Formats: sequence, structure tokens, C-alpha cells
Amino acid sequence: MVSRVIPVDPFDLTIFGGTGDLATRKILPGLFRRHLSGQMPHEAQIIGAARSELSDEEYRDIVRAAIAEFGAIDHSDSDVDEFLSRVSYLHVDAKGSAGWAALKSKMRDGYVRAFYFSVAPALFGDLAERLHEHDIAQRDSRIVVEKPFGKDLETARALNATLAKHFREDQIYRIDHYLGKETVQNLMAVRFGNMLFEPLWNAQFIDHIQITVAETVGVGGRGGYYDQSGAMRDMVQNHLMQLLCLIAMEPPSKFDPDAVRDEKLKVIRALDPVEPHHLVRGQYSADGEQPDYRSAVDNPRSRTESFVALKTHISNWRWAGTPFYLRTGKRMRARSSEIAVVFKETPHSIFGPDAGSHRNALVIRLQPDEGITLDVTIKEPGPGGMRLVDVPLDMTFAEALGPDAETAPEAYERLIMDVIRGNQTLFMRGDEVEAAWSWTDPIIQGWEARNDVPKPYDSGSSGPEDALMLLHRDGRKWREIR
Ligand code: BG6
Repeated sequence: MVSRVIPVDPFDLTIFGGTGDLATRKILPGLFRRHLSGQMPHEAQIIGAARSELSDEEYRDIVRAAIAEFGAIDHSDSDVDEFLSRVSYLHVDAKGSAGWAALKSKMRDGYVRAFYFSVAPALFGDLAERLHEHDIAQRDSRIVVEKPFGKDLETARALNATLAKHFREDQIYRIDHYLGKETVQNLMAVRFGNMLFEPLWNAQFIDHIQITVAETVGVGGRGGYYDQSGAMRDMVQNHLMQLLCLIAMEPPSKFDPDAVRDEKLKVIRALDPVEPHHLVRGQYSADGEQPDYRSAVDNPRSRTESFVALKTHISNWRWAGTPFYLRTGKRMRARSSEIAVVFKETPHSIFGPDAGSHRNALVIRLQPDEGITLDVTIKEPGPGGMRLVDVPLDMTFAEALGPDAETAPEAYERLIMDVIRGNQTLFMRGDEVEAAWSWTDPIIQGWEARNDVPKPYDSGSSGPEDALMLLHRDGRKWREIR
């Protein structure tokens, strides 16, 4: 397969929070990989901006170290030097006047201008205001904002309103990095590029859908943020919601930003409220050397969840009657994210009761081993009558597509290139984010009102027992996390 890298237009990209964790772990190493792939034009300029007083050289050393640690693929010192020649640094004060005139003087006419707000949301308004006041942002400049986009509907609305003072919706790129994952886009390709699945893609044929995003890591050094957030705000409101939208939405008329986002929005708006008995929260316990959740966040009385499982329905013609089960957690048995579309049993078994019960399942694996599996029922080979067995038809992308699958850009790389191209398809629109909060707010408020305490679960497990019961009660079971 021929790799097709299409260079983007020359750009000036300013990263506010340029010395921060996200910039050094994801954004800069990602840009470096795009440079290696040949997608970044020679004239590209990357400006790190932050509060520290650093020289260009000091900043380049930070970027060099970030590439060494997170840059991954093979590269030489001269590759790094060439990339660094496009990188510079400015000390900028979001609330004051320092650095803005210098930033303006670095901007070049006729180049795409993008500003990445890799800072706390409390600074979004200040940055937008300064860019406007100093006449740095132009009509077609873009801003990129990170999650968390608010902590509830009210704060998300306020953020949208703040940004809207100086930027139109088509200039605002709200990142949900799950949308940049290769397999997540493949979900759309599989659904809308094949005739095979769409006729069966509804409540008549699909028994239920499971979405699992399991992580082995704990909260790490992000305890302060995480304890204010929890799995519901950190993962469900955004990443799992996006997966749910892509799996459930109607076919958009074309693959363009608003057509896709209109359909996703309809799914979110059709989601039923979640009943309290369809919700399970958990908090992980200690494991050997590893601290329990409460010690990790340094809050011995924390009631924040590091695990959520829930059951919901989508009230529309396509999905009425098909439950959607979602779960996500930290410190689980394995790092495994997948969507399983479990079909109904055949209406009648011609092989008699001994043949057992069999269901086809289409499993879209996001990570690790990106790929798709279709469980089909066949005859167990050999003598002994008609015994049925389920076997997976496995398409692991790395095997099926060879090296191209392995060198596919990571989520952040792809998304940043989309910003430069001006393509918003894989970014969340303001109304989508607000609708997602409208659905999650009552869940979180319910927990608060009931003083709900998350159930403990063993690190390295599949979450609290109650999560297993959630499906068990319905005569179903979660797929194993492995
Ligand atoms: C982030 C969350 O958005 O996604 C983290 O804030 C989480 O808590 C991460 O660990 C998971 O991303 P990935 O790409 O590793 O699945």
C-alpha cells in the first residue's frame, strides 16, 4: 500500500502552555513525527509560549528532551535539529501585556495562523481577549481548545460564550483526542463504506452494544485535577460519548463537519436519562506498591469515582429497545478499549437445544492491537454431530495493512494537521459539548444529592462486582477485559 502524505499549507502555530505536560508529551513530539513524515512544510513555524522566562535555546532543549522521551519512531540528530530550527519561544503573560507585541511581530502574512490553548480553561477567555486586543488573530485564524471543556453545562456554556466574543464557531477546534484515533475513524468507514452492516444496524437485529475503555494506569500525577473530575467528567462525557455517537448515528449525507456533527448531536439529544440503579461507580484499592485512589489523590475522604459503568437507551426509531452499556475505569486488568456490537440470536435454532445459544458480535478494537473482529458461528470440526462453536474472523490492522497501519499518525498529530487544513469534522461543536453535559449533569447531581460513595474495586480487576451485575440482571455479560 502506498503511503500518501499530503503536506499542509505553511503555518504559524503558537502553543500557549508550550512548556506544559500536554505540549511536551503529545503536541510537540506529534509535530516532530509529522515533520519526519514530510507533512510539515519547510516554512512552518512553531512558537512555544508560556509564563517562564526562557531563551529560544533553552526552550529547544526542552523540546529536544520531549522528542527523546516521547518522539518514538527512528530518527537522527539532524532530523531533530531541522525540526528545532522551526521552533522558538516567547514569554507571554495571558493576563498582562508581556510578550504580545513580540508574538504579533512573529506572525507572517499569508500563512495559516493557529493558536493552541494548552492551558487551564480559566485562561481561555484571557487568551482570546489578548489575541483580539493585539490584533494577532485574523478572520481565518484558528484556536484549539483542550478538554475539560467546562465541568458542567453552565460552565461549558460560559466558556462557549467567552470564546464566541472573539471567534466564530468555524474558528474553534475543541479537541477530543479519541476522534483522532485511527480505529475511531474506521468505525465510520466500516459503517458507511460497507453495505453489509447497515441493514442490520438497528434494534431489530442488535441485542445490545458494549463500550469499554479500560486503563491500567491510575491517576498518576494528575490527582488534583482528577479528584475534581472523576471518570464521568474525564472520560464518559467526552470520549465514550463520542464513541457512542459514531456507533449510533444516522448516516450523514456527506463526510463534512456539520453533516457529521448534526447527526452526532441528534444521538446525544435522544439519550435517555440514566436511572440510578443503572449506574455503578467505583474507586480502586491499593495494589502492592501502588497506592489506592484516595492516597493517590491525597484526599482520604474522596468520593470521586475512578470507574463508571452504566446502561442507557437511545429513544429513536433505530435504537428503541437496544441497551447501550458503557464502562471505563483506571487501574483495571488490562489496557483495552473496544466497542462490541452484539447481535441477537437466530429466531429459531434448527440444530435443537443442544446447539446452545450463539450470538454474532462485531468488535471494534481501539487499543491495543487496533482492528475488527467478527464472531461467527460455525460447526465444530470433526465427528460428533452438529456442534456449534463461535470463532472470530479477525482483521488486525497491523497484519492486514502492513507497515502503513503502524505508521498511521497518532490522534494528536492527525488532529493538529486537521486544524491547519481547516477541517473540523473530527472536532466537537459547541452545541454537542453542551448537549453532552445536559445528559451527564443529572447523573453527577444525583450522586451528590444521594451522597453516593463509590464501591471499592481491586486494582487489576474488571471493576466492582455491581458492574458485572448490571448486565447479569439483563441476562447478558460483559466481554472480558484482557
Ligand atoms: C484523557 C483523560 O482525556 O484520556 C485521561 O483525561 C485518560 O484520564 C486518557 O487516561 C486516555 O487516553 P488514551 O488515548 O490513552 O486512551
